[in-house]
Amino acid sequence: MIQNFTTVRTVSELRQVIGEWRRAGLSVGLVPTMGALHEGHFSLVDRSVMENDRTCVSLFVNPKQFSPTEDFDLYPRNEAADAQALQCRGANVLFAPLVEEMYPADAATSVSVPGLGDVLEGEFRDGFFTGVATVVSKLLIQSMADRAYFGDKDYQQLRVIRRLTADLNIPVQIIGCPIIREEDGLALSSRNAYLTTEERAIAPALYTVLLKMVAAIQSGADSASAVQDGTQHLLSVGFMKVDYLAVVDPETLLPLSSATGPCRVLGAAWLGKTRLIDNVGV
Ligand code: PAJ
Repeated sequence: MIQNFTTVRTVSELRQVIGEWRRAGLSVGLVPTMGALHEGHFSLVDRSVMENDRTCVSLFVNPKQFSPTEDFDLYPRNEAADAQALQCRGANVLFAPLVEEMYPADAATSVSVPGLGDVLEGEFRDGFFTGVATVVSKLLIQSMADRAYFGDKDYQQLRVIRRLTADLNIPVQIIGCPIIREEDGLALSSRNAYLTTEERAIAPALYTVLLKMVAAIQSGADSASAVQDGTQHLLSVGFMKVDYLAVVDPETLLPLSSATGPCRVLGAAWLGKTRLIDNVGV
């Protein structure tokens, strides 16, 4: 069914649309994205449409979460196609602000989550989680959504967002959603578009290696040897560089030397010029 659908670019327009819904007693779901939408994003939208009366999707390629050496300018952008697909999926509003709207020249405040935001991705992407935490805090406050949807694909990001929401008393329920994968196991990502045909054929090895690590630690191997074997495997199939493979506590993200209870196995590795991340729960 085709719903009423609008695109808004300013916080005041967004507040007006959502304010009307809230005054009518309707519940609101928010799905933050950077666009170039794929079935991973749509799985969050579908869930929000199912669980809320109205769904807002944000599309903002957030400059604060890209370091100067990263792919901000190259990042795939296709708002027209994204908007059309969102309308078909039953979303109600697309919030697509300009950078000046999100970050006016005199803006000075940022949100940091030390600890959770410093390890793993935080070690390799300077300022990344401060950029994410700042923009997500703003989006949650701007939309005043009842629920906000995030993928397990970015597992550390989800942990950081749960922390900041609790710490800042933002009245929203954070909903984590499972990773959507291609048939060969590769986790869907907007950045997969950068892969050459040859790299695309190698890419599913990241997931395979994470599954092997899970099997190894479940059968008693220690984390260090699982990490070493996994790294070796990735390099041998054609990955250029492994930023990290890690076995961590699913809540604190601190390293675990073995897996006696619940844990999360995460990895980030470079295939040519593309950096892939993935993770698996145990
Ligand atoms: P983006 O990479 O566009 O992802 C938006 C949301 O989609 C995130 O919650 C992400 O975890 C989820 N997602 C991406 N690929 C997925 C997959 N294969 N399966 C399930 N969910 C998937 O993550 C961001 O944008 C930004 O950091 C953002 C939170 C929008 C802040 O700028």
